[in-house]
Amino acid sequence: MVADPGVTAVAYPNIALIKYWGKRDEHQAIPWADSLSITLDVFPTTTTVCLDSAAEADRVTFGGTPARGAASRRVAAFLDLVRKHAGRSESAVVSTRNAGPTGAGLASSASGFAALARAAVAAYGLELDAADLSRLARRGSGSAARSIFGGFALWHAGEDDHSSYAERVDVEFDPAVVIALVDGAPKRISSRAAMRRTVETSPLYRSWIESSRADLAEMTEALARNDLAVVGEIAERNALGMHATMLAARPAVRYLTAPTLGVLDSVAVLRSENVPAYATMDAGPNVKVLCRPGDADQVALRMRETVPCCSTVIARRGPGVTLRIEEER
Ligand code: PMV
Repeated sequence: MVADPGVTAVAYPNIALIKYWGKRDEHQAIPWADSLSITLDVFPTTTTVCLDSAAEADRVTFGGTPARGAASRRVAAFLDLVRKHAGRSESAVVSTRNAGPTGAGLASSASGFAALARAAVAAYGLELDAADLSRLARRGSGSAARSIFGGFALWHAGEDDHSSYAERVDVEFDPAVVIALVDGAPKRISSRAAMRRTVETSPLYRSWIESSRADLAEMTEALARNDLAVVGEIAERNALGMHATMLAARPAVRYLTAPTLGVLDSVAVLRSENVPAYATMDAGPNVKVLCRPGDADQVALRMRETVPCCSTVIARRGPGVTLRIEEER
């Protein structure tokens, strides 16, 4: 029996148009370069945190199933950070539910740790501003720093805990993002392990970081003028460059599969037919296609017609993390 009714937070995944890949400080999650993302309006994570001072350890459930091993330790380690910050010691009961696939390169860890950060901060009575919440979420999963914000967010890499946080980028740009789902299974290698291997062994890593910094400067200008063609081109080359660094790691890290390449071929064909569509992929085989909202149904249909195992979801820009106090349980 848990006396505390708990607090619930909802956060949405974000998709990076300029990617975060590789940390200079793994413990503090400080990346090598800035990244920029769009928060989506699909696949939210809903997380409730209740304090239970009688319990000896935290208890975590994912979609109603008790979490074990590394996943549950990761949540407990994150709660330790919050407890330290708050000067409190109570254990917590955490229930979290993802509306989308988990661990399939669809940013479930971004929405997951953004929701956990918001709910845990409220449960332990902390008051943090958005930048501090972003710093905290970063410690759970780097990309979660950006899901604190709706619309577009820029994560300043910084060089220590204080200087590494995301903030909202105020632009009107409102494309559709067609999610081409080719495989919902969890990835075989975690992004954390894959990043470490890439930074340590890939001869292409340094040059991608340099080109990524240049990409960000061009991207910021293109976003401000609502230029889908330039935003899309930069996003696509930045993602392909990130995957190139992984392919050159030793041993190679390869998240892209045959259906991924099928989707990329279809995107290229659409462009040859004058439909502006641009692809980006994260730590998994699924593809997100940026296009005009009015073209989204056509783009989604083409993906399903040309890639047999493909299903699609159409997203738009979504909101930042929100809190909702549980009134009854
Ligand atoms: O989920 P994380 O925080 O371990 O990082 C994943 C990074 C990518 O999704 C591949 C790129 C990004 O910037 O979100």
